[in-house]
Amino acid sequence: MLEKFSKWKANFTTNDLTTSEESNIPKHVAIIMDGNGRWAKKKGLPRIAGHREGMKVINKVVRKANELGVEILTLYAFSTENWKRPKTEVEYLLKLPERFLGIELPKLIEQNVKVRLMGSLENLPEHTLRAVEKAVYETRNNTGLVLNFALNYGSRYEILEAMKAIGKQIQAGEMTEDDISEESFSQYLMTAELRDPDLLIRTSGEIRLSNFMLWQLAYSEFWFTDVLWPDFNEHHFTEAVAVYQKRARRYGGI
Ligand code: FPP
Repeated sequence: MLEKFSKWKANFTTNDLTTSEESNIPKHVAIIMDGNGRWAKKKGLPRIAGHREGMKVINKVVRKANELGVEILTLYAFSTENWKRPKTEVEYLLKLPERFLGIELPKLIEQNVKVRLMGSLENLPEHTLRAVEKAVYETRNNTGLVLNFALNYGSRYEILEAMKAIGKQIQAGEMTEDDISEESFSQYLMTAELRDPDLLIRTSGEIRLSNFMLWQLAYSEFWFTDVLWPDFNEHHFTEAVAVYQKRARRYGGI
């Protein structure tokens, strides 16, 4: 690991990206932050220690994303499937937004970051909602990086909710099936005003989407790394961006 890290460090510290590459920065980066539990296990620590350490990484990635000119950073913080975990772990995970924002909100404001939330608000504890809503409110006029927390988020749930809303409107005679297009459907999703991710990063060596942004990731570039999320840092983020910049996106064309 150390060896790997120094390699990245050597490649990506002094001049992270060359001038010619600066123009092709992914505007929206989405991250599946995975591997907290394994990180803790490797160290003989309880799983929640991995989540606590994972929380600390967010700040580094936000700073780097902002610095590189990324416009939107979406982080998968808690999925609709994560409720299946032991109660103590769920409670701990749902305390993290409050903890994180308690410490970081002033710094996020200083960096002109705008906090946003996507997910089902049902079942989220009051204290979690209060902390995130406060951050959303206090950063509402910021114009820099949009930090989009996916919290109690599941893509299939999101798509079904969109379909139900459309169904209701059709039943009420407010629209017809001819009004349904990719563009109009997107407006019913929790990302309505956001562009689709250009780049998806998943840590910890798992190669799957885990019910994350299934519609929105249709044409995104994927970058996977074996690095466990608590070990992830700004250099890995820059590495992912650099790899993205070398890829040619064709959107089905040639
Ligand atoms: C997956 O690792 C990670 C999560 C389910 C939670 C991710 C949350 C954070 C990184 C912190 C969130 C902080 C804020 C401020 C919202 P895992 O537990 O599935 O790891 P494993 O696959 O190794 O068991």
